[in-house]
Amino acid sequence: MDIQQVLKEAKKAIESCESQQQLQDVKVAYLGKKGKVTGLLKLLKDFTLEEKKSKGAEINSIKVELEELIEKEQAILKTKDINSKLSNEFIDISFPPSSQSEAKVHPISKTFDEVISIFASMGYSVAEGPDIESDFYNFTALNIPEDHPAREMQDTFYIEDKDDNDLPMVLRTHTSPVQIRTMINQKPPIKIIAPGRTYRCDSDATHSPMFHQVEGLFINESANMSDLKGTLIEFCEKFFEVQNLKVRFRPSYFPFTEPSAEMDIAYSIINNELRIGEGDKWLEILGCGMVNPVVLENCKIDSSNFQGFAFGVGLDRITMLKHGLKDIRAFFSGSINWTSKNGFGLGNY
Ligand code: PHE
Repeated sequence: MDIQQVLKEAKKAIESCESQQQLQDVKVAYLGKKGKVTGLLKLLKDFTLEEKKSKGAEINSIKVELEELIEKEQAILKTKDINSKLSNEFIDISFPPSSQSEAKVHPISKTFDEVISIFASMGYSVAEGPDIESDFYNFTALNIPEDHPAREMQDTFYIEDKDDNDLPMVLRTHTSPVQIRTMINQKPPIKIIAPGRTYRCDSDATHSPMFHQVEGLFINESANMSDLKGTLIEFCEKFFEVQNLKVRFRPSYFPFTEPSAEMDIAYSIINNELRIGEGDKWLEILGCGMVNPVVLENCKIDSSNFQGFAFGVGLDRITMLKHGLKDIRAFFSGSINWTSKNGFGLGNY
């Protein structure tokens, strides 16, 4: 029985392994149930007690030595495997894309860009606020009373964190809290839009729990309802690319505006196609009004000197109308097929 010879042989076999699988095979060949080292132990039965003791100890020591060697080699081969995988699966991100995989601009992103550029041409700048809002900015400062339906559980996503007044935080239910943040931090004149994500617990073909709005706010000494009308008509004509757009303003109610209105645009369906701006059917597209003096005062703006208007437009809604898309949920499905069909190529963007 040549124990050292088996050790030498096994070491050589371990060193020459090039993969984790080969190493596993070597491990089985030497240390497995039918392996060579195990075989040596089986031979011990023919030896004297003395020899059994000394040879047994020697076999056990080479067993331990081989186990350690295999473990070390295993770590080396694992790193080697990872490195070779990394270099084989390398993606050259500087490589020009094939025409089939042309990147597309999501319809909502396109609407964001268009809306910002239309209002920028009228002198509005973009303001932002957080998606996770405190009760104060989302409701209280906007004159939304405690028992207002908008606060109800089925509408608002409440978050466990509390604000400074121990009130729950919410996912903002509209972009109007950005009005408040702006009025608290800025002196009039104020002329901003706030595009962004909003959240309400609602889901069907025309509602999504996460959707998009753009808020508008204009405050100076004299802004009035007719300025508001003119601004919104100009926006809609530019956005829908229609001249002499037929619109109507219906009286409405929002706690933060007084008077309040909703704006509808006319449409008709001719040969199964939606025509925006003409016809005798009406689509509601936005809420608006003169900023309630209570809200100005909540933001420390003197309501005897300043006044203004605000509006909130559903961006998903106007995107669906403009591009004839029927199901809002498809916007957020993450389907590449949908985006390549309904998105906009960078070329004609
Ligand atoms: N915040 C309102 C909503 O989400 C829209 C709105 C904004 C109405 C500003 C009036 C003025 O329904």
